Amino acid sequence: MTRSLRLVASEHAFGPIARWREPDVTPADITDLDQHATYANWVEDAGFDALFYTDFLGFDPVKQLNPRLPFDPTTLVSALVARTRHLGFITTASTTFGTPFHQARTLASLDRLSGGRVAWNVVTSFTGEGNFGLRELPAPTERYARAQEFLDVVDALWASYPESAVVDDKAGGRYVDVSRVQAIDHVGECFSVSGPLDKPGPAQRPVLVQAGSSPEGIAFAARNADVVFVAVPDFEQALDYAGRLRAEVAATGRAPDEVLIMPGFRTFLGRDAADARRVRSRHVTPDALEKARRVVLRESEHFQLTDLPLDEPIPPSHLPTDEQLAAAAGRRSRAQIYLNWAREPGVTLREVLERIALEHGHFALTASPRAVADELERWFLAGAADGFMIGYGSGIAQFADQVMPLLAERGLWKPPTDHDLRSRLGLPERI
Ligand SMILES: Cc1cc2nc3c(=O)[nH]c(=O)nc-3n(C[C@H](O)[C@H](O)[C@H](O)COP(=O)(O)O)c2cc1C
Repeated sequence: MTRSLRLVASEHAFGPIARWREPDVTPADITDLDQHATYANWVEDAGFDALFYTDFLGFDPVKQLNPRLPFDPTTLVSALVARTRHLGFITTASTTFGTPFHQARTLASLDRLSGGRVAWNVVTSFTGEGNFGLRELPAPTERYARAQEFLDVVDALWASYPESAVVDDKAGGRYVDVSRVQAIDHVGECFSVSGPLDKPGPAQRPVLVQAGSSPEGIAFAARNADVVFVAVPDFEQALDYAGRLRAEVAATGRAPDEVLIMPGFRTFLGRDAADARRVRSRHVTPDALEKARRVVLRESEHFQLTDLPLDEPIPPSHLPTDEQLAAAAGRRSRAQIYLNWAREPGVTLREVLERIALEHGHFALTASPRAVADELERWFLAGAADGFMIGYGSGIAQFADQVMPLLAERGLWKPPTDHDLRSRLGLPERI
């Protein structure tokens, strides 16, 4: 086995944010840089390839009943690269609300400051329009078209100021050969950017991560991404997604295995299946179910679950139709997963809300460490996943202590040794 499973830890998986309801955690801990650095150091020592930070550009009155990251993630990452040695970081930035010039500078800076350890999770955003002068979120097709132009401009800006322009001509008084720094003069549908960048581009193209699973999302990922995150709740859907993505990657002329597929994954671990179910049930609190009733509205306003009894099936009239779902502006793929769960024969509202609250549409296992390792092995060997992005579940520390050694024993995973994230993930160079 030459390939190795890649493992990314989620920001939510550990540390004071995950543990906020425990009596010893205070609000001061949540905003304490040392605590975030402790988590990053733990993630590094546990052998994860990278630590991932999401970003949603707006206050969410339901989700924020739980603490969220109290920092802009890219700002936090710039502090954490100084407190870690080899760990990769994946930060998130929006192409719908940001501008390519700023993003090209920020990422080039972080690439240099970290020695190639920072990746960009490219998102088109599904909330935040009111903060950027928009009355409505643009439709997904429009957002993806803008995202492509955004990336093209970022690439052009990075190339506009190459490393080779620095000639360091001390005698002639020319640090930079300005003739090698070229304007880009981009005029497109969404952006007009003259360039060049006023800072040198990154030493190599930073790793790009993407997480769209609609047809437009897959096409965008196939063309641009090095890594895809995806919410796929089961093996069949993961395999189907992997097949579609790899076909699209090949159609763009790239090698199909050049894009790493990393489904979100969380686990509730116990000694055996019954014990794991007990562990999981401790995470099902009444307030978590009530939040889940409201949180699905973010995906589609046609999930009308608020006044329904918990222990009965959901009447179809309280769920979106396929047409309503297709027309939703938000995360259609996530809404589709919730809808599929709600339509399972005989399923009660309580069961659906539990899954939404604990799994968020991701792959989740409630099982013993050995059974978890078996299932991850199955996904990996079948090509349904190249790795996993590990979320909270019953705790990422148990995953690291109990599952990662089993994966290592089977030769599926070994601790990474490379410094820059591209090599750490075994990705080819890209220019
Ligand atoms: C693991 C994972 C992490 C994501 N992180 C973010 C994020 O930080 N910010 C964001 O706006 N969207 C995030 N998304 C949403 C995706 O960027 C995308 O909007 C979503 O998957 C729907 O895309 P689609 O309409 O192409 O299916 C994430 C999705 C997944 C699966």
